Amino acid sequence: MKIGFIGCGNMATAMIAGIMDSGRYTPGEVMVSNPSEGKLIAVQKSHGIQITQDNTKVAAFAEILVLAVKPYLYEAVANEIQEVILESTVVVTIAAGVSIEKMQVQLGRPQPVVRTMPNTPALVKAGVTAVCRSQEVSDDLYQETIQMLESFGKVFELPESKMDVVPAISGSAPAYIYILIEAMADAGVRDGLPRQMAKEMAAQTVLGAAKMVLDTGIHPEELKDRVCTPGGTTIEAVLTLEKNQFRAAVQEAMKVCTKKTKELTKSS
Ligand SMILES: NC(=O)c1ccc[n+]([C@@H]2O[C@H](COP(=O)([O-])OP(=O)(O)OC[C@H]3O[C@@H](n4cnc5c(N)ncnc54)[C@H](OP(=O)(O)O)[C@@H]3O)[C@@H](O)[C@H]2O)c1
Repeated sequence: MKIGFIGCGNMATAMIAGIMDSGRYTPGEVMVSNPSEGKLIAVQKSHGIQITQDNTKVAAFAEILVLAVKPYLYEAVANEIQEVILESTVVVTIAAGVSIEKMQVQLGRPQPVVRTMPNTPALVKAGVTAVCRSQEVSDDLYQETIQMLESFGKVFELPESKMDVVPAISGSAPAYIYILIEAMADAGVRDGLPRQMAKEMAAQTVLGAAKMVLDTGIHPEELKDRVCTPGGTTIEAVLTLEKNQFRAAVQEAMKVCTKKTKELTKSS
């Protein structure tokens, strides 16, 4: 299976690391293009894959082609590759707000398209990727694409009508968690902990709490209640978070993120 990437930025680098470390693909089966050479040389050094500054070379090569450029560049890239891309090639989109229909219009034909929304923890193989497909994607190529995506994290299949909700809960969401970790670390430093230790303790606690939710299957509310000793320290902190509308702030942030994604989908 030949995998191509157009664009060699943060997401492509994370995805390439995942698929090469999975051992499913040989370096000869993966090619990436990018306008500037530095990122290409770095990724070739790390994984030995094929590199080029010519997008059409990747498009002609790939059976699964990931468009890893910024959303505003999708149309230009589609115009550039539409003459050389094979009719059977699965085009994988990773940009918020790019619908399957829009992608097919930009490519000028009913190309098989898998629309995805990954996130950057793919870099440490702890990514979340939501996926849906156009009717032109065969079952075999869809399964192959899903296995490729699973090499850097968990994959969730959704109807396309729900894809605009995903950036708020996984694509953009690592940013909110980083703010939480930074805020916890700052408070630890204020109260006398060394910076590095405060940061590691906060991050490990977020990781541990997430693992508790996933591994035990216990509702987060019950897990929270178990930490709150009557008359203890945790309930003081929890009530202060409630007073400062922690829950509401998170939900409001996700609401505006989804609103923005829907606007992008409409305008793209
Ligand atoms: N970052 C995230 O958390 C995240 C999460 C989910 C989805 N996404 C989506 O993933 C896509 C890529 O995001 P990213 O964060 O990886 O962006 P990025 O780091 O800026 O990478 C984009 C890459 O595209 C290259 N590029 C620019 N023009 C090009 C062209 N005409 N042909 C080929 N390559 C071109 C850029 O090269 P130069 O730097 O050399 O110009 C850059 O290496 C976006 O659509 C974004 O919405 C990102």
